[in-house]
This record gives sequence, structure tokens and C-alpha cells, in this order.
Amino acid sequence: MQKIKLGVIFGGMSTENEVSVVSANSILNNLDQEKYEIYPIYISKDGKWYEYQKKEKEMKFGETIKQDKEIDDVIKYLKNLEVLFPVLHGLYGEDGTIQGLFELLKIPYVGCKVLASSVGMDKVYTKIIFERAGLKQAKYVYIRKYKDKYIYVDSQFNEKIMDLDEVAKTTQEKLEYPMFIKPSNSGSSVGINKAKNKEELEKNIEIAAQFDNKILIEQGITGHEVECAVLGNEDVIASCVGEIKSADEFYSYDAKYRNEESKTCIPAQLPESISEEIRKQAIKAFKAIDGKGLSRVDFFVEKDTNQIYINEINTLPGFTNISMYPKLFEASGITYKELLSKLIDLAIKGE
Ligand SMILES: Nc1ncnc2c1ncn2[C@@H]1O[C@H](COP(=O)(O)OP(=O)(O)O)[C@@H](O)[C@H]1O
Ligand SMILES: [Mg+2]
Repeated sequence: MQKIKLGVIFGGMSTENEVSVVSANSILNNLDQEKYEIYPIYISKDGKWYEYQKKEKEMKFGETIKQDKEIDDVIKYLKNLEVLFPVLHGLYGEDGTIQGLFELLKIPYVGCKVLASSVGMDKVYTKIIFERAGLKQAKYVYIRKYKDKYIYVDSQFNEKIMDLDEVAKTTQEKLEYPMFIKPSNSGSSVGINKAKNKEELEKNIEIAAQFDNKILIEQGITGHEVECAVLGNEDVIASCVGEIKSADEFYSYDAKYRNEESKTCIPAQLPESISEEIRKQAIKAFKAIDGKGLSRVDFFVEKDTNQIYINEINTLPGFTNISMYPKLFEASGITYKELLSKLIDLAIKGE
């Protein structure tokens, strides 16, 4: 059997470059060598593309990737490949931009297309679609940074220019503390903070504004943080549900990647009816954004009430062998290696 020429693209021009390197390391170690001729490609933070020569050594978190051979003609290089696997998280990887390049080149690729990728990356627009799908989520306020002021955008996109104090006061009228302040385009909790009072709210709005001019402020939900993985194009399956036990007050960047006290619990200790409802909502959310291939859909299950709130959808979730996405499918009977082959098959088949 002729091997399929597969490009595995990782790194990327985002704050999650380091996370992507670890995901790619696991993927490169687990791909079926009999089936695929593998071309690892590293994109540096400054946007240069390199042929990555796989060494014996594992690529670790935060390690500088040796940039051996720069690819001068990226388009020509990619055109030689039959299928692409973008193992990229965050901006310029998970947001539809690189997917647009693959579309132009007419090369099949793993995962969501342009629209689903950009909707999934932008927390404000994800909320709008989820609302339309009738999925329950935390109450929120949407503002934009505008010069040294802010624009408050209401639910019908009417705009009002305000200063920081006014924006905070208006937000306080709509939401209760604690609140979560997020750059609309973010991932791995970068730029996200929790506020318990007006002073913190103002400070955290200013922090979020350093990452994106679109800012989402959400009412905090107290409860379990759970995740569900989905796989498929038209016929989508959902994994079992897993729970995150964060070492920090919330699942911050440190809690995710640096603090080994953060744990996952698979399957989550929830009543079966709730897990089943989460699986249903995960598939609904994926379909609502027009997802393809894979996504990890994150929820909160509120303490005391057991109400389910959808939080977000990750169209290119973490993929190390201890990441939730592959772990959830492993617990549902699909091994890491099989999962990779299924994703690549879904990309090649299209439907
Ligand atoms: N509305 C909320 N209520 C409670 N915790 C929240 C809320 N929004 C976010 N968090 C906490 O912040 C973390 C990061 O927020 P999230 O929206 O998932 O951003 P990211 O895309 O960076 O993962 C979550 O994993 C959770 O711990
Ligand atoms: Mg998250």
C-alpha cells in the first residue's frame, strides 16, 4: 500500500505555541508509520515555516525547537502533500486563517473549516451562536476597546461609548460578582481573570484589552468544570464526560500547564442523566458552529442546582497523550492511535 503523505503542522504564531509543540510531540510519536509518510512542519512564533527533523529526543513544553531548514516556498511545499493535520492552538491556527490557506490550495485537512474555526475561536461570536441554538450559558456583557475608551455593545449590537468607570458600572448592573473577564480571542486562559469587585473588574478589563479589542465579561458559575469530546463530520459521536479539578481558583494558564496538582477525572462523577445531556449538548454545539472532524466542548455543572452551562468549544483541543480530548475517547474505547487515523480519514473523506 502506498503511504499517504501527511503534513503535521505545529508551533504557530500564537501564545499557545509551546502547548502545540507538546501536542505535536505526542501525535508524531503515535501516528501509524505504515500508513503515513510524515512531514513535520514547525511554524515559529514569528511566522517562519521549517521542515522539522524528528530527533530521538522528545519535544518538551517551553523548549526551543531547533530550526534546521526553512521552507522558502510554503505553497509549493504544501502542494506536495496529500493531507494536512494542523496541530495548532489559538490565533493563526485554530481561528480559520490557516484553514483558509488549505482551502485555497485544495488540500484536505483535519478538523473544522474556516467558519467553524473562526466562530469557535471568538468567544463573543461563539456565545451568539450558542444562544441561537438554545444552549444555556453564563450571562455576559460584550465591550470593545476604542482608543482610550470602551464601546458597550448591547444584545442587538447597539453601541455606546463609555469610559472605564461607566463600563464597569454598567456591567455591575447586568452581572453579579464574581465575574470572568476574557479577551474574545484567547485560549489557554491567557489574559483571563476573575474579578470580585469593581476595582478588580476595571483592572482585568484593562488586562484583557491588551490581548484583544473585543472583551467578554461573564458572570461566574460555581460548580464542576466538565468537558466532552466530539468526533465526526455528519455522523458525530460524543465521548464520555470528564471533569477538571483545577489546582488554582480557576483553570488558569498555570493550572493547565505548570501546576501538577491540577487533575482530571474520567469519567466525571455525575448522574448518568446529566452526562447524557452534556453529550447531547456537545454535539448540538458542534453542529451549531458547523464543526467538522473534532472539537472539545466545555461546560459547567452548577453546584446545588446541577444546571448545565456551556462554556466554550475548542476546535483544535490539546492533543498530548494526557490531554482531555484523546483521554476521553480512550475511556470511550478508541485508542490514541486509532483516533489519529479516524481524524485523518474524516479529512480525506470529507463527508
Ligand atoms: N463563567 C465562568 N464561571 C466560572 N469559571 C469560569 C467562567 N469562565 C471561565 N472560567 C474559568 O476560566 C477558565 C478559562 O476560561 P475559558 O473561557 O475556558 O477560556 P480558554 O479558552 O482560555 O480556555 C475556565 O477553564 C474556568 O476555570
Ligand atoms: Mg477553556
